[in-house]
Amino acid sequence: MRDLVVMERIEKRFPGVHALKGVGFDLRAGEVHALMGENGAGKSTLMKILSGVYRPDSGRILVEGREVVLPSPRAAQDHGIGIIHQELALMKDLTVAQNIFIGREPRLSFGRIDEARQTREARALFDALNIDIDPRRPVEGLSIARQQMVEIAKALSARSKVLIMDEPTAALTDGEIVDLFAMIGKLKAEGVGIVYISHKMDEIKRISDRVTVMRDGEHVGTVAAGETSIQRIIEMMVGRALTEEGVRVPDLTAAETALEVVGLRRGREIRDVSFSLRKGEILGFAGLMGAGRTEVARAIFGADPREAGEIRVKGRKADIRSPADAVKAGIGYLSEDRKHFGLALGMDVTDNVALASLPKFSRSGGRLDEEGMRRVARDFIARLGIRTPSEHQEVRLLSGGNQQKVVIAKWLLRDCDILIFDEPTRGIDIGAKSEIYRLLAELAAQGKALIVISSELPEVLRVSHRIAVMCEGRLTGFLPGGAGTTQEQIMQLATDRGGPGRATRQEDPA
Ligand SMILES: Nc1ncnc2c1ncn2[C@@H]1O[C@H](COP(=O)(O)OP(=O)(O)OP(=O)(O)O)[C@@H](O)[C@H]1O
Ligand SMILES: [Mg+2]
Repeated sequence: MRDLVVMERIEKRFPGVHALKGVGFDLRAGEVHALMGENGAGKSTLMKILSGVYRPDSGRILVEGREVVLPSPRAAQDHGIGIIHQELALMKDLTVAQNIFIGREPRLSFGRIDEARQTREARALFDALNIDIDPRRPVEGLSIARQQMVEIAKALSARSKVLIMDEPTAALTDGEIVDLFAMIGKLKAEGVGIVYISHKMDEIKRISDRVTVMRDGEHVGTVAAGETSIQRIIEMMVGRALTEEGVRVPDLTAAETALEVVGLRRGREIRDVSFSLRKGEILGFAGLMGAGRTEVARAIFGADPREAGEIRVKGRKADIRSPADAVKAGIGYLSEDRKHFGLALGMDVTDNVALASLPKFSRSGGRLDEEGMRRVARDFIARLGIRTPSEHQEVRLLSGGNQQKVVIAKWLLRDCDILIFDEPTRGIDIGAKSEIYRLLAELAAQGKALIVISSELPEVLRVSHRIAVMCEGRLTGFLPGGAGTTQEQIMQLATDRGGPGRATRQEDPA
């Protein structure tokens, strides 16, 4: 196979960070080349250099054998290099089709944008990807998963011969991933070279031809996917072997009830959802995309209004009409859309971790214990392995996975009795994932009640003491946590659309 791209001895420094230390990388026509490494290893930076977002400090880039300079994304595009960024970057006010063709709109003979053709071509792309999105609707209001699909369609529409995908499936469900992989298969057959960044080990085995592992800004190794094992890749990433332990389900029969949700409803999204949660319990929420899990979480947290239903905290009715009410009642919610609700990107790590817990740091005379705030931030940086030059770094300069860890730290510090985590490990590397699972178990052991929403079945099985499964706005059943429960059992309930005469209310066995 011929080399589409060769990158040689790429160096890149940011203030306080040596992000790339003489890294080499190459991509062949018709291959999927997985790029792996822990959060902050330098994957996105290397690919931003290849797509003209950053300039390297030194090093060479060859495209089809000829040395090129890529001073802008436009220049990279002219060389046939397209990228789907880790952080979604769509314009919320424009329509889906306008976003896809932005900057290269099809024109009518007298210069006006050919909206009809734009819509038609966007629709054809979606058909090929097997997704159902109206190209004429605004991007505003689309779920993260759907925005991701639009980004993918956008990159595909540019007919790139090099396509870089930076964690494209982070927000997709299994069905959508199958469609995406089918599309990747077609592109491969056409000779497109694909760089694929992901933290999901099973995907790497499924679609990649070669795997390159980076650690701390260095190239650790490149291996043929067929000739290596997941275990070996993890060792290359982390520099040691990881042992995975299963969940230990505590006996909670004597534990107090922390939260009761009774008859929660909102339109077609939440249909009569009732459950309860004990102190010390981790209740996993499984289901397909659109099952209503996030909607339930947002309704409990007061982020969306509810049409009916009562929320009781420690046996007392809680009047929750806004997130502020929820926090007052002791409920915290780590949203799946961190960019919008979780982080102040322009502020530093300390402020992001501590500002939501200010009372903890207030001293007499209205002064703030700033040293205390920094100490707590440093402690979380160490515990969660947040890769940053210091606690003073602006959060927008951290890698995607490290930003995620900052949000988690912020909620861990807030001391809520009830914590709802919505996709807590999205984009987080495998070593840090185990650390977060350990922290969740530790929080439960301290008597907190936890809800963990996750689209990754192994994760639900790994963390939950009990599993609630939703389908189309209904709770279709509960399963015990622990080794006895299988992915198949969850899938069965997750696709249980019910039938005539079927009871809509499931009893909560707790
Ligand atoms: N613009 C920037 N300014 C300062 N530091 C940066 C900038 N961009 C990246 N970094 C730093 O460079 C290092 C590599 O970051 P990069 O985003 O490439 O990691 P990554 O491998 O993509 O990680 P993740 O899996 O979390 O997405 C990190 O320490 C990050 O904080
Ligand atoms: Mg990245």
